[in-house]
Amino acid sequence: MKRIAIYPGSFDPVTNGHLDILKRGLKLFDKIIVAILHNPGKSSLFSVEERIDMLSRSLKGMPNTEIDTFDGLLVDYAARRKAHAILRGMRAVSDFEYEFQMALMNRRLNREIQTVFLMTGLRWIFTSSSIIKEAARFGGNIEGMVPAFVLRKLEAKFKESQP
Ligand code: PNS
Repeated sequence: MKRIAIYPGSFDPVTNGHLDILKRGLKLFDKIIVAILHNPGKSSLFSVEERIDMLSRSLKGMPNTEIDTFDGLLVDYAARRKAHAILRGMRAVSDFEYEFQMALMNRRLNREIQTVFLMTGLRWIFTSSSIIKEAARFGGNIEGMVPAFVLRKLEAKFKESQP
């Protein structure tokens, strides 16, 4: 049996913290499907197409990964993709409450799918797409926190939106 996990998220944009979790996850699973939530109601900086593009460039050289999008319930998507696990990264204690709630709700919705948490590397403990975007928006140096081409995309995006 192939062990397939879904690594879901907004990935707006992908960060080195996400890639760290993915690399750790690949040691446990035969295949990981990186699934971008496609939610037109949720505002995002990058379009789904841009996020797919940044992820595909980041996952080059990482076999056993696939990029996909989903909408609706995550557990329904996971069942459709014949996955047995949902992979999530855990940084600090502050992540715990939200992740705990989501994992238990997902378990309530589908008992067959387990949520697996991996601790992020210490270097990424304080980073998130949101805080990186905020720093980048105001010209902060975020080098080393995202792949180089994501850094350039962020710079271009914020230059675009300047008056
Ligand atoms: O990167 P994020 O924004 O923390 O990812 C959140 C995500 C996409 C994992 C979560 O919002 C999600 O699974 N949304 C789909 C709807 C769903 O199934 N929600 C959980 C149970 S109600």
